[in-house]
Amino acid sequence: MPSVLILNGPNLNLLGTRQPEVYGKTTLADLETLCTTEAARLGLRMAFEQSNHEGALIDLIHAARGVHDGIILNAGAYTHTSIALMDAIASVELPVVEVHLSNIHARESFRHTSYIAPVAVGQICGFGAYGYVMALQALGKRLIS
Ligand code: DQA
Repeated sequence: MPSVLILNGPNLNLLGTRQPEVYGKTTLADLETLCTTEAARLGLRMAFEQSNHEGALIDLIHAARGVHDGIILNAGAYTHTSIALMDAIASVELPVVEVHLSNIHARESFRHTSYIAPVAVGQICGFGAYGYVMALQALGKRLIS
């Protein structure tokens, strides 16, 4: 059974109370439940992690090699700043689906740049929590043949 790591970056631990008009009312725990249900339906194993620290996210990406078959990554604001995360993804050579709850392209111009996109299989944004379900389906399609 293929295994997927779902990795959440800074401030996503505050989902549900953090700018609900932008990010919705779904909490991180709700999101994990949603993903667990969908992963089981698709026949995927799943791990779900969150960190506010760039280095910790990089360590989790490195540790995914040989353990997981793909990564779903919402890197939060590090999306727009972190060459180190981009390099980590390129180094482990696992398929990565980039996810954002909000439509980053319809927001401030600094959010239009993603350092993750060039090393990702694709990007899903603007669909709220459902974007994670879509990402699991997209990765599942790739991993289960
Ligand atoms: C986000 C979008 C980022 O620009 C922002 O910094 C976040 C959340 C999203 O899921 O919409 O923290 O990744």
